[in-house]
Amino acid sequence: MPFITLEGIDGCGKSTQARLIAAALAHAGHDVLSLREPGGVAISEKIRALLLDPENDAMCDACELLLYEAARAQLVHEVIRPALNAGRVVVCDRFFDSTTAYQGFAGTSSREAAETANALAVSDCVPALTLVFDIDPELAAERADTRAGAPDRMEAKGLDYQRRVAEGFRAIAREQPGRVRLIDASQTVDAVFACALAELASAGLAVSADDARSALAALMAPTE
Ligand code: TMP
Repeated sequence: MPFITLEGIDGCGKSTQARLIAAALAHAGHDVLSLREPGGVAISEKIRALLLDPENDAMCDACELLLYEAARAQLVHEVIRPALNAGRVVVCDRFFDSTTAYQGFAGTSSREAAETANALAVSDCVPALTLVFDIDPELAAERADTRAGAPDRMEAKGLDYQRRVAEGFRAIAREQPGRVRLIDASQTVDAVFACALAELASAGLAVSADDARSALAALMAPTE
């Protein structure tokens, strides 16, 4: 069960949970590789910069869809597949469900186009477990407002867009209950983490209370 992906709308807190999960699994003795999408390798990080640059407001939806898939194809080829073949645990902050939810449900690309493009980019490299951090888009927007910096090109699409993305993720979770689990992300960081660990355990990747505590302590530790 080595490929885990984390999903949710902007501001849902999933990146914090990605750090906690990776730290807990590493503390439990797993060889963990943490990645983010779009990005994770040099070519895909360059594509990320193109996708998120607010100056690229002329980007059409087909270009956007194909750039996400191009970044993903390279990440799968260069890093994810070799890591899984080597027996590592891969924790990826976003993967192809983001394309289905953002470009397929919220954007103007059809869901069918998003899923066809997903299949082309990943082939048989499908996550064993996907955690969707579900939160009210208004609450997520408030959280995002407290973070520094201007909105990127995707965040600038606005609240209605995020509402459609959230509905998209909920639909994916309803349709694929075996792989995709919805977690209430409006709770505290610790409570959300506990839910995530329960899902990992039910999928065969249990960590001890000590592993969990150590991950939380590392998150709270001051960084230089
Ligand atoms: P991040 O802020 O979680 O790093 O993700 C970057 C943005 O890209 C975020 O707004 C979600 C969006 N995105 C898509 O629209 N489609 C995708 O396939 C992926 C991976 C991300």
